[in-house]
Amino acid sequence: MHNPAAETARVSAAAAAGFKPLLQVDRLSLQYRSATAVVQATHEVSFDVHPADRFVLLGPSGCGKSSLLKSVAGFLPPASGEIRLDGQTVRQPGPDRIVVFQEFDQLPPWKTVLQNVMFPLLASKTLGRCEAAERARHYLDKVGLARFADAYPHTLSGGMKARVAIARALAMQPKMLLMDEPFAALDALTRRKMQEELLALWDEVRFTLLFVTHSIEEALVVGNRILLLSPHPGRVRAEINSHQYDLTSLGGAGFQQTAQRIHRLLFDESDASSAAATAAAQPINFGDVRFSY
Ligand SMILES: Nc1ncnc2c1ncn2[C@@H]1O[C@H](COP(=O)(O)OP(=O)(O)OP(=O)(O)O)[C@@H](O)[C@H]1O
Ligand SMILES: [Mg+2]
Repeated sequence: MHNPAAETARVSAAAAAGFKPLLQVDRLSLQYRSATAVVQATHEVSFDVHPADRFVLLGPSGCGKSSLLKSVAGFLPPASGEIRLDGQTVRQPGPDRIVVFQEFDQLPPWKTVLQNVMFPLLASKTLGRCEAAERARHYLDKVGLARFADAYPHTLSGGMKARVAIARALAMQPKMLLMDEPFAALDALTRRKMQEELLALWDEVRFTLLFVTHSIEEALVVGNRILLLSPHPGRVRAEINSHQYDLTSLGGAGFQQTAQRIHRLLFDESDASSAAATAAAQPINFGDVRFSY
């Protein structure tokens, strides 16, 4: 079972020990260029992700969350700024960063569940066939799908396809798991179940997660730290510690207050904050919220 109190201790201990960040995103501006136009997706976004963080990028549609994830994955080069993983500049995709997308139809339908999970291990020559099958079965067991190893994707529910995609990513044992709204296409109950399972899986495996959502509730449940981004082009508005919340906090007074505060930070103060962000200075610490002015 996920244990927020134990995690608070872990986070404090990690901070006290001065662990180096696993991922450093440093004043990252992202652009899309066509023959006729330049679209600015993010403006000088900075954040650090530590080992075993569940770091959430939260912001309104079009603020550049997916672009940030793509850039960390190595698919979208910076217009300016830098991304470092373990101190090394990220220049291209690699097996140390695996992305799980929203569309679970990314599972090739002609491969069984087991073959789907084995595929990246074989394609990247990470493991031979026997070891790959063994590792794939291990992670299928972790996501509760051991019995479905020989099933084909079209026979699975949306939630089960989500689990296969997560097992396939974890089987690569990446340094970071990158998830872009992975549960957005699921119904509300399945989504909640998947959030619960993801937290249980994290408790067991302790992977490092970079998770994109535009749901405040999902951000508070899934994340231990949340980066709030302003509307397009995305800039850092604030960073919030949220390790004290999980699915059992839903509906509680503290949870509601924090959700409302995030909502105000994201939407009500947009004009004032964008103007302030332009005049950029150092971040100011304010309780558990780090504002950028
Ligand atoms: N391939 C592309 N070509 C041109 N512009 C793009 C491309 N992809 C994204 N953009 C633009 O970049 C900005 C950021 O888009 P992005 O998809 O990163 O936002 P998002 O925060 O993930 O939004 P959503 O919550 O709707 O998924 C938007 O203005 C979008 O129109
Ligand atoms: Mg997106």
